[in-house]
Amino acid sequence: MLVLGIESSCDETALALLQADGSSHSLLAEEISSQVDLHRLYGGVVPELAARQHLQALPLLYDRILKQASVTLSEIDLIGVTTGPGLKGCLLMGMNFARGLSFGAAKPIVPVNHIEGHVLAPVLDNPDLTYPFLSLVVSGGHTEIQVVRAPGDYTLIARTTDDAAGEAFDKSAHLLGFDYPGGAMLAALADSAPRQRDFSLPKVMREAPGFSFSGLKTAISLLVNEHKEEMEQDEALRADLAAAIQDSIIDALLYKLKEAIKHTGIRTVTVTGGVSANKCLRDKVAGVAEHVFFPEMVHCMDNAAMIAYVAYVHRERQLSQGAFLDVHPRWPIETGSDAGI
Ligand code: KG4
Ligand code: ZN
Repeated sequence: MLVLGIESSCDETALALLQADGSSHSLLAEEISSQVDLHRLYGGVVPELAARQHLQALPLLYDRILKQASVTLSEIDLIGVTTGPGLKGCLLMGMNFARGLSFGAAKPIVPVNHIEGHVLAPVLDNPDLTYPFLSLVVSGGHTEIQVVRAPGDYTLIARTTDDAAGEAFDKSAHLLGFDYPGGAMLAALADSAPRQRDFSLPKVMREAPGFSFSGLKTAISLLVNEHKEEMEQDEALRADLAAAIQDSIIDALLYKLKEAIKHTGIRTVTVTGGVSANKCLRDKVAGVAEHVFFPEMVHCMDNAAMIAYVAYVHRERQLSQGAFLDVHPRWPIETGSDAGI
């Protein structure tokens, strides 16, 4: 079965063609167009500009992947498109593009949940990964831990009650003087830190269920402001601040992940979403789980291969509900929750 995946939920336009049959699959082509340069000018994603950019990019990327894979629309069997969660105007662009193709060529559509895409991305890229596993999704918009027993069978363990981990990285990076989105730059600076000065930040949300980064954000802001002048003169001190910030965000993720492992007895962990590119996080997760799986680096970020894969799995297992003619800016994937962590 040849599946076209379409992703436009935030600031990446992505399309992919996945050939999948039974348990085997191969990615024939994929394109990702990031809008980050556009939004950097404004210090964050501007929803209207993002939607307009998707409108322009979708047909261009579509032509490109068809050429790359040497296929035509008539050969495509299924279209998977992200219909939530995400920015409404952006989701509408992808969904309407998919609907146009679907009506024009009589192709079925599977509406795909973006978070489910991130959750199953490690399965797409790791043939050795087996169910059940604990999925830590850490991106610019989402931070959650789900128990994944099978495709479509998700139990929420913990979710952020305010900011996402990526947002905490980006906002802290801004305080340190980096342009949006500065998460990766903060991480690179932190990894180079001499660790001469030990800056302490509070351990947040240990007792309460879920994640929260807003208190930490305030503490980081106070800490950085306290050392602002020194930091501007002393790059080693700025790096030590970055290291303290990175440690504290990762500590919050690790703490809940360890609790989740203890609580469920599941010792296989996947880490996915943009922050899963973080080296320090990768190293530390490897220290607490028995088996750890990540998607390929390109599939840690927003991409359409994971969307095509979810569409395929849903079609194979007949999981989809079919209410695709709408977008869902908020759309939890779990059927139950096992909160308290
Ligand atoms: O999954 P993603 O590409 O887009 C969203 O769905 O949000 O994640 C982007 C986020 C940004 O907040 C970015 O700063 C963060 O992932 N990020 C990192 C690193 N690389 C990307 N955060 C920490 N360390 C990194 N190496
Ligand atoms: Zn994402």
